[in-house]
Amino acid sequence: MKILVPVDGSAYSLKAVETACDLAKAQAPATLVLTAVAIQIPELEEGVYIAEKMKAQAEIALAKAKEVAQGKGVTAEMILAIGASPVDEIVQVARDQLVDLIVIGSRGLAGKTRSFLGSTASQVVTYSPCSVLVVKTQD
Ligand SMILES: Nc1ncnc2c1ncn2[C@@H]1O[C@H](COP(=O)(O)OP(=O)(O)O)[C@@H](O)[C@H]1O
Ligand SMILES: [Mg+2]
Repeated sequence: MKILVPVDGSAYSLKAVETACDLAKAQAPATLVLTAVAIQIPELEEGVYIAEKMKAQAEIALAKAKEVAQGKGVTAEMILAIGASPVDEIVQVARDQLVDLIVIGSRGLAGKTRSFLGSTASQVVTYSPCSVLVVKTQD
């Protein structure tokens, strides 16, 4: 079984990593793939500067997620994706990697808003080629 966890550096996404690790261990042999999408919009003024910042942020998100997985005794593959839409990139990675399940946080960097389900999570549920587990937190 191959499990994909999209991470943005938020505590919500790290909780999704923990849940995915528990599943991976229960479903052994399983592969865990972590992906962070660095948003890049080339036509933006200041685009290059923003792209570098986004890439650095995505790298940090991946490093944090890998550390959480290691703490759970699970080794993970990491994919840094770059594109204008996190949803499109996540769905593409799921297709390319022949993923069986996506485990995603219900919220992300926007944090606690009135919405109980972030737009990235919601659209991944809609467009994913495979099953999606949305990990919710008690708040
Ligand atoms: N740029 C991104 N790259 C990879 N995963 C992401 C990205 N943005 C969000 N996610 C995933 O989607 C989950 C929900 O985030 P999101 O829907 O963007 O909520 P919010 O609106 O609170 O930011 C995150 O916990 C993470 O698992
Ligand atoms: Mg977000």
